[in-house]
Parts: sequence; C-alpha cells; structure tokens
Amino acid sequence: MSIPRILLTRRWPDEVQKYLSERYDVTLNERDVLPGPDELRSALSSYDAVCPTVTDKLSAAILEAAAGRVKILGNYGVGVSHIDTAACQRLGITVTNTPDVLTGPTAEIAVTLMLMVARGAGAGEREIRNHTWAGWGPMRNLGADVSGRTLGLIGFGRIGQATALKAHRGFGMRILYFSSRRAAAEIEAHTGAVYCPALEALLAESDFVSLHCPGGAVNRHLIDARRLSLMKRTAFLINTARGEVVDERALARALRAGTIAGAGLDVYEHEPEVPAELLGLENVVLLPHLGSATLETRTAMGMRVARNLASFFAGEVPPDRVV
Ligand code: DGY
Repeated sequence: MSIPRILLTRRWPDEVQKYLSERYDVTLNERDVLPGPDELRSALSSYDAVCPTVTDKLSAAILEAAAGRVKILGNYGVGVSHIDTAACQRLGITVTNTPDVLTGPTAEIAVTLMLMVARGAGAGEREIRNHTWAGWGPMRNLGADVSGRTLGLIGFGRIGQATALKAHRGFGMRILYFSSRRAAAEIEAHTGAVYCPALEALLAESDFVSLHCPGGAVNRHLIDARRLSLMKRTAFLINTARGEVVDERALARALRAGTIAGAGLDVYEHEPEVPAELLGLENVVLLPHLGSATLETRTAMGMRVARNLASFFAGEVPPDRVV
C-alpha cells in the first residue's frame, strides 16, 4: 500500500505532528481553523485516515454523503458522541479513541470544580478582580465543606473511578455510584465506592453529584428539571462529561431558584456557546472544557492516535477500537 494520507482536523502538539509527519503523508491544520461540514465531507473522500476531535460533528448525513476513501477515524479524545458510530459501522469505517491517558487530568478538573464551587472560589476571585472585595469577615464569603461529604457519581468508568479515588482518599468523602453495570468488588474496595442501583436515590443522598457517563442521544438531558428537584437544596452538580447530559436551561432555573446550591461545569451542549442564563449566576463555576488540557496529556492523546493508526495500517485491530 502507498503511504496513507492522513488529515488532522485541528492543530496538535508539535511532538505528535512531527512524529506522524515522519511516517505518513499528513495534512496539518497549523492555523487551527475549525473545518466546516463541507471540508469534513471532502476529507472523508480524499484521505485514508481522518483524525477528528470533539469539535467535528460527523453525522450520518455527512458520513453517508462523503465516505468513499476514508477507512479509519482516529478520534483525538475519548468521547465519540460527535461521531455517528452506527453509520460508521454500516459504512465499514473503523473508529478509535484515546482512553486512559486523560483519565487523571479529567478527574482533577472534576475535583477542581467541586472545590471551586463549594468554597466560592470563582465568585471570590471575581470580587477581587472587580475591586468589590470588602475584606475578611466572619460571615463573608462562606462556602460549604467538601471533606467528609457524600459524592454521588453517575457513570463509573475510568474517569468516574479516578474521581472517586481522589475524593475518597484525598477528602475522606463517602462515594456512591450509579451505573448500568456494577463494578467488580476489587474496584469498589479500591475506590471506596458503594453501588447505588437507583439514580433517584443517589440524587437525593448526595452532597455533590458528578457526571461521568457518555454523552449522545442516549443520555441527552438525563439531568433535567425533575431530577434536579430530587437533589438536596445544599447540593452541587458537577459536569466534566458532555454538555448535552444536562438540560442547561433547567439547571439555570434551579440555580436561580435555590433548588440546588451550585454547579461546576466544564462542558456545554453547544460549545463554545454558554447559555446567557448561566453567565450571570454567581453560584456556577464555568470552565472552558479543560478536562484533558495539559500539554503532557494532549501529547499522550496524539501518540495514542498514532498507535491506533500504526496498528490499523499494519492490518491489525487497533488497541482502542470503538467500531
Ligand atoms: C474527550 O477526550 O472526550 C475530551 O472531552 C476532549 O478533551
């Protein structure tokens, strides 16, 4: 086979771009301009491998209209809800992702959000920057304790487990988890997590609810007005999973009404748009999808894609095959 043609849809860390360019006929996106649907369509018919990421929506319509040459989508990221994997399956396109390497950093952001929102770190920092901080006072800038509280995890894959471990070992938190499948006893023992078979019970019992389930149609608006109303009025919602898992408008209403105490969000349904209703609220911490955003992690993600491409083009099953 001639040297495979590969497209990276976004700019990646230099080390990985160099590594891939030495091995394949690679088209880079040095200016990091977001490809539109037409560019994605044309890429699918002119490259052997397209390496998209969370910002590239590869719907069934785009895949079906354009697929022809592309054999593999080497996704840069663990979540693949932006790709219609059922269409890929029908069209015989392999899809891979990048698990493991971003587990720890994403769990760090979940913990960051818990601490920031419970301790009022975002609102406090805004006071200083806006020159409205009136100084220390016994009843000023009061937050809520994190240590020893109950953390309820929805989804208990790698990132959920890593978050449990940090929260349990680091802050002595009691951990509950809801998941379609109960984890092995050794994992429960290691993370201190207790299985909660009913989502409603987990919502009612937790001081922090942290989302770690996949996005996509199956979990769209899993956290809606009704489920928010089941949470404690003193509880906090954390989302480092996918924006669509939360009904953002219902969340804004719940935050305004005091149905829950606060929220920490790293992901949004229509990124990079953040609903105006959330922007004006002091009891929500808003981060710009930072989960995997360290140079070390982004490099490791790229090398993970490289490993998948290498085994695919060697005729093997790639280690991180999703479809
Ligand atoms: C992922 O890997 O799915 C992240 O959300 C992108 O950092």
